[in-house]
Amino acid sequence: MSTKKSEFGVFGLGVMGSSISLNIADKGYELSVFNRAEGGEEEVVDRFLSSNKHRDNIQGFTDLKAFIQSMERPRKILIMIKAGPTVDLVLNNLIPLLSKGDIIIDGGNSHYLNTKRRFELARGHGIAFIGAGISGGEEGARKGPSIMPGGTRESYKFVSEILESIAAKDDFGKTCCTYIGPEGSGHFIKMVHNGIEYVEMQLLAELYALMSKQMSNEAIAEVFEGWNQGVLSSYLLEITIQILRKKEGDKYLLDMILDKAGNKGTGSWSSKAAFDMGIPNTMMSSAVFARYISSFKDTRIKMSDLIDSGHSIEEDLDLVSIEKAYECARLINHQQGFKLMQLASDTYNWDLNFSDIARIWSNGCIIKSHLMNLLHKEFMCSKDLFEMDLVTGSLVDGETALRDTIMSGLSKRISTHCFSAAYYYWVDMTTKNLPANLIQAQRDFFGAHTYQRVDAPESEFYHSNW
Ligand code: 6PG
Repeated sequence: MSTKKSEFGVFGLGVMGSSISLNIADKGYELSVFNRAEGGEEEVVDRFLSSNKHRDNIQGFTDLKAFIQSMERPRKILIMIKAGPTVDLVLNNLIPLLSKGDIIIDGGNSHYLNTKRRFELARGHGIAFIGAGISGGEEGARKGPSIMPGGTRESYKFVSEILESIAAKDDFGKTCCTYIGPEGSGHFIKMVHNGIEYVEMQLLAELYALMSKQMSNEAIAEVFEGWNQGVLSSYLLEITIQILRKKEGDKYLLDMILDKAGNKGTGSWSSKAAFDMGIPNTMMSSAVFARYISSFKDTRIKMSDLIDSGHSIEEDLDLVSIEKAYECARLINHQQGFKLMQLASDTYNWDLNFSDIARIWSNGCIIKSHLMNLLHKEFMCSKDLFEMDLVTGSLVDGETALRDTIMSGLSKRISTHCFSAAYYYWVDMTTKNLPANLIQAQRDFFGAHTYQRVDAPESEFYHSNW
């Protein structure tokens, strides 16, 4: 064990905390790690140290004061604990022991408004607080995650070298970590990353539902494998191929997994943020609701008795259309996700750089994909996916395929929540006149809420005596 002052500290040795600690130690930094020694976690630090005996740059602590004193100043401490009230408890214990100028980085999936509050709290004590979204799961944390730090630029300068050295590298060898913006911006974009992730996962689940009626898991994996060679390639598609092929004895493991999807909340936070900002992130909320519906397993089993499922139409699957539909739905998912970040950036004056965000999401994170590399380039001169010819061209070309795929689901009684949300969003966004005139008339009828007229300036509001 080193006796030198550490250059960095990691608080919390759960799966993500230990993996990121090893990643930091691999890069040669002097590191202090801390974990509490209570509540069943008595052995955590000892176990971590004994499995890393060969490393001489890690010091382990269960005493908070000793952990703090082991670090050079300004101290840089990454907290890797479950998001929620525990973060506040940890900050309450940590802040009084720190000195002015020290830096705390919250690497969990904290809600961006909590990050904003904690940023102010820490600032009141002269401590810098960085809310860093970290994506990539256990493997990413160990080998190179995508890191999205938000806070002051000044405080980021103190931690940039370490964070950038442990992050994944993009196709050009640049680090997948960049300063995002002030206060909660890093956690906001991580939240949206997860919202996009929910949709990407749900789209694959809907494809699996459509295809598995007529195809074996292996046959679906083969089709996905072909797609994964080209523009549709992504980490989530890649792991889905492996999942489809995984066997337990002579059975597919996937077939043995109960169809109740869990969640830890970031998808619903993204959807709520979209609702609050008045922006139609229809695919994210559809993906969240699809998970919620799946959790009503008992009701589903009971209600399924009402339905005679023997009459579904088994026409051939049009895999070319399905592939095109998948491409379109993904484009719309990314359009909605980036639009949400654009609105947040404008609302909070974050000045987010979307080309950079797409770049740091091109590797290390769960939604890394070929598309992200394209978006990195396209965002250099456009602000919205709907301003990109490459995107609108594909959507115009793919509209029929998207509709046919949804219709194939309808005829087989297979729900396509996210594909349908994508289609209707595209149809509405390319329709001059929507029936919202009737909504306005109804609002004015019962509540005198007024309406604007097509034959008068938009600044004028009218009320009629209906
Ligand atoms: C990541 C993941 C990670 C986690 C999410 C999703 O970017 O590494 O998004 O943060 O998998 O928390 O969790 P749920 O699906 O349980 O909401």
